This record gives sequence, structure tokens and C-alpha cells, in this order.
Amino acid sequence: MIELHHLTKRYGDKLAVDDLSFRIPEGVVTGFLGPNGAGKSTTMRMILDLDRPTAGEVTIDGRRYADVQDPLREIGALLEAKGAHPGRTAYDHLLWMAQSNRIPRERVDQVLDLVGLTAVAKKRARGFSLGMGQRLGIAAALLGDPKILMFDEPVNGLDPEGIVWIRRLMKSLAAEGRTVFVSSHLMSEMALTADHLVVIGRGRLLADLPMAEFIRQNSRSSVRLRTPQPEQLLDALRGAGLSPRPGPDGSWEVTDGDPVLLGDLAAAHGVTLHELSPQQASLEDAFMQMTADSVEYRTDIPGAAATPAPQPAWGSGWDTRQAGKES
Ligand SMILES: Nc1ncnc2c1ncn2[C@@H]1O[C@H](COP(=O)(O)OP(=O)(O)O)[C@@H](O)[C@H]1O
Ligand SMILES: [Mg+2]
Repeated sequence: MIELHHLTKRYGDKLAVDDLSFRIPEGVVTGFLGPNGAGKSTTMRMILDLDRPTAGEVTIDGRRYADVQDPLREIGALLEAKGAHPGRTAYDHLLWMAQSNRIPRERVDQVLDLVGLTAVAKKRARGFSLGMGQRLGIAAALLGDPKILMFDEPVNGLDPEGIVWIRRLMKSLAAEGRTVFVSSHLMSEMALTADHLVVIGRGRLLADLPMAEFIRQNSRSSVRLRTPQPEQLLDALRGAGLSPRPGPDGSWEVTDGDPVLLGDLAAAHGVTLHELSPQQASLEDAFMQMTADSVEYRTDIPGAAATPAPQPAWGSGWDTRQAGKES
């Protein structure tokens, strides 16, 4: 179990992580969700002791990372793809890591097989696609057979097959009883992968709850109505005790409304309808709403969901300290 206690990180004026406290349990996939710039990578770096907290601390089974005896066997992490030296083959990259951590050579073959890279094991990392780079990074994370695994945005830039593969892998690692902590800025991806959800925005904790609970709270449906007689429609709806909200393009929406009753109500008031359609609230929308105030950069298109601009890569590389210093 990983525990964060009032974890805080300040870069100059910028409060990247702001008093975060939560637990990452064993045996489940915990999704770490937040818009770009929310502080996910910074938090993960602090868990791995790659970045020093301004305040607060992280414990791993009650100990600080620095006090963990054999980090590679305890925590495996994929912080950024393309961590391997471009001139080194996949096999040599893993072998060097294994040898510097007293891990038997056979384990290299095992993890190459596990991530599906056996056929290209003797190829140099330089020629690897993004997906192959991710697989190699995951192989490295798995090398010490650790009981805690962290993946920072592992599906970024992957093709659909690679995404499904990573999703299955994370679930199977959790099913083996391991702690799996995975970040993403995509709610749709987390909904398919995570059992537990931690949401942050601008470095602050916004939610910490089981995925099923988040879905239950946020999957309320609504009915969208469109009419050339909006005043009459609104009178009829409000007269029936309903609270219509403005929807896109001049439409109106009624939460938990019944399309049949709404159609009858409009007809009884002589209101012409041009649209009467049930809407399923998406989890992505719920996430956007939750984090709306914490998106760093947004494109101000009226009515459009806020889209965070890409963040610069801060080039952490995955954990070279764990790996034993790459030249
Ligand atoms: N090394 C750094 N120096 C200065 N600012 C940083 C550094 N690393 C991250 N930040 C800033 O901290 C905030 C959180 O960044 P990050 O943890 O990368 O977010 P996320 O991974 O959620 O996209 C951002 O505003 C980012 O610009
Ligand atoms: Mg990040």
C-alpha cells in the first residue's frame, strides 16, 4: 500500500501538487486522472523519490522509498517511453538492468515474452515504434517482479491493439494481488481499466472513490428537446414542475425526463417539437465538469468542452535511479 500524506510540490511560483493525501490499495487498478498539468507526473516522481516534496511525504508499506531495500523488486515504473538507449538492443537494455540489480538472466527472456517483444529482442531500440518503446518500458518495470507498478499515461500514442493489451495487462497484474497505479487524462480509458479512481486538478484532490461509485453518480440521463416555440415549451415544462436547462444550439434538456411524458406534455400545450431525444451523460462530461475550474489552458469555444493544451515534456525519463544509472 502506498500512502500520500499532505504531499506538496512547488516549482517557483507554481504549486504543482497541493496537499495531496490518499492511499493506493493493493490488488486493484487505481486510475490517477486529471487534465494535462494537473500534477500527475510530479506526484509519481515524488512517489519514486525522483523529485523532493516541498512538504508532506510518501510511504510504501509504511517506509520511505529511500529506506526500501531493493527498489526494483518493490516498485516498477514506466514514467516515459523511449527510456532505452537508442543504440542498445531491447535484450541488452534489460540485461544491463537485470545485472545491475542482481536479477537472473532468465527473467529478461520472461519479461520480453510477457510484453511480446521476443521476436525483436535483438533489434536496437532506435528503430522501435512508440508502442514497442512502451512495451520495452513495461518489460523493464516488470523485471524485478515488483508488487507495486506505476504507469504514467501508458496508452498515449498507442494503436487500439496496444491499448487493449495494456488494459488487460494492468488488470491481470492487479488480479495477482499487485498494486497498480496508472495515470491518464482520459476518463473514457479509466472507465474501462480502473477499479478505483483518484481525480486531481491543479494539484488538488478532487475525488477519491471506487470507479463503480463514480459511474453511478455520474451516469444520469436527460432528454433533449428542440422547438420553434421555446417560451411555450418552457412554460409547459415549468408548469409540470420540471427544471429545463439550456442545451446546445438553442435546445433544452430535462434531467431524468421521460421522453413519452415530455412528448405528451408538449402536444397537450400545442408545442411543436423538432427534437425529442434521450441523452446518456458521458463519464467524460462528468470528468470535464469536475475539473472545469482546474484546466490550465482552455480553448474558449462557446458550448465546447474545455480542451487543455499540451504540456511541455519535462523529460524525466523513466526511473534511471532504480535502474542503476544509464550513461
Ligand atoms: N520540473 C518542473 N519545473 C517547473 N514546473 C514544472 C516541472 N514539472 C512540472 N511542472 C509544472 O507542474 C505542473 C504539473 O505538471 P505535471 O505533473 O507534469 O502534470 P500532469 O502529469 O498531470 O500533466 C504543470 O503546471 C507543470 O508545468
Ligand atoms: Mg504527466
